[in-house]
Amino acid sequence: MKHENFPNLYTHDHPLLEHKVRILRDRDTTCQTFRRVLGEIAGLMTYEALRGVPTIEAPIETPLTTASARKLAAPITIVPILRAGLGMTEGILALVPEARTGHIGVQRNEETLRPIDYYSKLPQDAASGPVLLVDPMLATGGSAIFAIDYLRKQGCEHILMLCLVAAPEGVKRMLAAHPDVAIHAAVLDDHLNDQGYIMPGLGDAGDRAFGTM
Ligand code: PRP
Ligand code: URA
Repeated sequence: MKHENFPNLYTHDHPLLEHKVRILRDRDTTCQTFRRVLGEIAGLMTYEALRGVPTIEAPIETPLTTASARKLAAPITIVPILRAGLGMTEGILALVPEARTGHIGVQRNEETLRPIDYYSKLPQDAASGPVLLVDPMLATGGSAIFAIDYLRKQGCEHILMLCLVAAPEGVKRMLAAHPDVAIHAAVLDDHLNDQGYIMPGLGDAGDRAFGTM
């Protein structure tokens, strides 16, 4: 679904996604179930988010004759923002097993809400194809904007973002900083609270996925 105020945002409304997002919001969901469902949602969303990636003609020999066919024009690189983005990666790789994976380590300072980077590693030729940046939470947008600034410096041009829950504040900041990056989200929530948490949200996604509450 497109949003009038946010031309950069696509929310994926599907009964299965609604059902699974509810499980992640539930405070009683265990860490094991949280990780599993996070991966399942990421896989479901990837199918739709990658709809626009370029393909090229690549005819193929069937056992009977030559068939016209198409294949991805360039390899896809998945880039999870550590830590919580890791919970989405396996679900995406299940769908696109030939994708490569880069990592960007960013942690939000819980007082200033500003991103602090601590690690980054990309496949050498990441810039040659689409990059799918993944992080379940888009709150102030600081972490995602930092990650995209970094990807741009490495020459990446075709960048898509996949998140689970987006806050209007973060989508707005992304629109100002990187208007050409499409954000695919399962849900657009209401607002950020005074501590920078998404409301109603699902809490701290990294803590919930890895049991560090
Ligand atoms: C969370 C989340 C995002 C970031 C979103 O990570 O996974 O990366 O916060 O907030 P922002 O949009 O305001 O930048 P966190 O910094 O808690 O790190 P973690 O994944 O290691 O827990
Ligand atoms: N990061 C999270 O993990 N959750 C929020 O609600 C905001 C930032």
